[in-house]
Amino acid sequence: MAQTHPFYQAPSLNVETYDERTVANGTPIEGDVEFFVGQAREVGGPVLELGAGTGRVAWALAQAGFEVVGLELSQAMLARAEAKRATMPEAARKLARFVLGAMGDFQLEQTFALVIVPYRSFQVLTTPQDQRRCLECIHRHLRPGGRLIVNLFDPQLDRCLPDAPFPTQEQTVRHPTSGNTVKVEVVSHTNDPLRQVLTELWRFTEVNEAGDVLRQEEEVLTLRWTYRQEMHYLFELVGFEVEGEYSDFHGSPRAYGKEEVWVVRRP
Ligand SMILES: C[S@@+](CC[C@H](N)C(=O)[O-])C[C@H]1O[C@@H](n2cnc3c(N)ncnc32)[C@H](O)[C@@H]1O
Repeated sequence: MAQTHPFYQAPSLNVETYDERTVANGTPIEGDVEFFVGQAREVGGPVLELGAGTGRVAWALAQAGFEVVGLELSQAMLARAEAKRATMPEAARKLARFVLGAMGDFQLEQTFALVIVPYRSFQVLTTPQDQRRCLECIHRHLRPGGRLIVNLFDPQLDRCLPDAPFPTQEQTVRHPTSGNTVKVEVVSHTNDPLRQVLTELWRFTEVNEAGDVLRQEEEVLTLRWTYRQEMHYLFELVGFEVEGEYSDFHGSPRAYGKEEVWVVRRP
């Protein structure tokens, strides 16, 4: 049987197909890259991205002319981000830097005008203490007047119940190098409403044209859902002022069950 790893943390089909699966058009994060580039144009760089992954956002910022540091916990994801360097224009290559580190506790010898935590990455912090420590770290790395943007999903309460019905989730993508089909399934989902933590088991199966299974891997995704008012209080506790609160990346007003896009400022 497949070995089970924490999400993204080992070289895997999950990591290899991340970019193919994260085509933002038509997804809840549609427009996020343009939004982050627009924010950088407003407040300037340098920009720090936490949980930078394959560099999907960081490289776009560098291509738009901003110095960017991408902090990432997974060596495997970091390697994907670095692999894109050779394909980037010379100017962008000089502007982007990726570092291995944990968003819950990091120390960089630099401060930033803008810190971003895209695509719900903040939700990997599964306790309020970890969330607070992360925000305190960000606060120390932001220049006075600097801006922080955090994206979370806004919890749909019926999906957070202890025995919430679990809808079948299945997706098929083409592997970017082998060209084979990769089937992605969420095979189990449990909620812990006390801790506000969901745990999902994802299975990735690579199949060739003849239908032979070449690889099968499983990864566990653990995320904490956070209510809006909790985020308000957390920001206040750590010394941030909320400037904007949206339900998507087009500036729509806050709304139940959509995205939480927080724009906050270090005074
Ligand atoms: C959903 S991906 C987002 C990647 C990228 N920001 C994007 O928008 O495409 C979440 C990323 O956060 C990383 N991550 C998970 N826990 C982390 C931690 N404690 N510190 C830093 N990065 C972490 C994962 O390895 C993964 O690359």
